[in-house]
Amino acid sequence: MPTALVRNGRVVTASESYDADLYIDGGKIALVGRGLSLPADTVIDASGALVVPGGIDVHTHLDMPAGELTSADDFETGTRAAAFGGTTTVIDFATPEPGQSLLAALDTWRRKAEGQAVVDYGFHMALREVGETTLAEMARLTRDEGVTSFKLYLAYPGVLQVDDAAFFRALLGARECGALPLVHAENGGVIDVLVKRALARGETAPRHHALTRPPETEAEATARAIAMAGMAGASLYVVHLSCAAALAHVTSARDRGLPVHAETCPQYLFLSIADYDRPGFDGEQYVMSPPLREAADQEALWRGLAGGDLQVVATDHCPFTLADKARGRDDFSKIPNGAPGIETRMTLLWDGGVRAGRIDAQRFVELTSAAPARIFGLWPRKGTIAVGSDADLVVWDPERETRLSVETLHMRVDYSPYEGRVVRGGPAVVMSRGEVIVDRGEWKGRPGRGQFLKRSHGAAHPA
Ligand code: URP
Ligand code: ZN
Repeated sequence: MPTALVRNGRVVTASESYDADLYIDGGKIALVGRGLSLPADTVIDASGALVVPGGIDVHTHLDMPAGELTSADDFETGTRAAAFGGTTTVIDFATPEPGQSLLAALDTWRRKAEGQAVVDYGFHMALREVGETTLAEMARLTRDEGVTSFKLYLAYPGVLQVDDAAFFRALLGARECGALPLVHAENGGVIDVLVKRALARGETAPRHHALTRPPETEAEATARAIAMAGMAGASLYVVHLSCAAALAHVTSARDRGLPVHAETCPQYLFLSIADYDRPGFDGEQYVMSPPLREAADQEALWRGLAGGDLQVVATDHCPFTLADKARGRDDFSKIPNGAPGIETRMTLLWDGGVRAGRIDAQRFVELTSAAPARIFGLWPRKGTIAVGSDADLVVWDPERETRLSVETLHMRVDYSPYEGRVVRGGPAVVMSRGEVIVDRGEWKGRPGRGQFLKRSHGAAHPA
């Protein structure tokens, strides 16, 4: 079994920071101590750097069909870009075709990833309908297949949206089998009406994507989802929370002791509704759901991250090329929703969060790795640096300066929403299960080395 020694770094976990060497054997952390001098196949000098647990991105859409299109990154290109950004585990969304069994959908999505993924991966399962068969399959996926979280959409009518009855049945089912329900919380019905009215008035530009999905549509759906989770006695995880009004409902639920968790994403921290008004048609690059919000929302989200009301920063990585986006040139509602971000999450959060003094380094680890591992049933194999844990490690250079650009980023998409932004802090060396896969900007990994992760019940579930 190959061995490795990471020397002279400052180890940062969600709970501690200390100087130590790490000895790795068989892909696991075998020893943590000072002045370790064992022989090793690979020796990495981490002097002047931090050593943090590999990032875990629990919200990605790789190789995802979207009508006639498919998201631009597949499991090889997407996980490779993730690794370049310091992320060593992703949890993607398996989405059944209408009428398809969940087990068949899992098989489809596992085949998309097998032989392709360069880092470890798991799946949430999206639900389109919630009948008796679905409930039985949820139990089976949770018990036997390591798929322990299920996503429901309260948006996208006619495509993915479920009604309140189906949502409630899924919450009850998730509680019974010990799974975690995830919710995309936007009121799809209200949005549909607003979109039709806007288009009828000739309001076709990208900014109308945001104006037809006002914060109230997200806040209402978030409150409804929380209320129904409470009635079902289920826990709840709110994906891509974007605004202060929705956060207030999560905060209030948590204050009442309800097991409600929420994530936000870098785009809601660093981009704003003003980006839709960029000259020309650049605004289409920022069409995603929920849409970008106001500066005051960004500030509320930062407070939520610092104070604990938001537990996770994920990406909702769902890239489409500019040609794909141009399909909505005359009608914002035809612009495919989503943006690239799998590679830039950690560096943006370090620069705008830690360097800006909004969160400390341990909170950075908590938000990008430890909490995702605990909530989604990967802890303590992932999410920390401890004897017995996978050696998914990032030697993090806290000062490295990078100019984010489509020219140098690795995602398979022809634009970056952060083009030209200069950030400090980034991965120098990235290890996945003890193997160096990125070494100072050089790619060392290989497709297919990533392993499917069977997850256990996460800490979010009250059972
Ligand atoms: O705009 C987005 N977020 N696209 C990806 C699908 C989703 O809603 O998560
Ligand atoms: Zn999503």
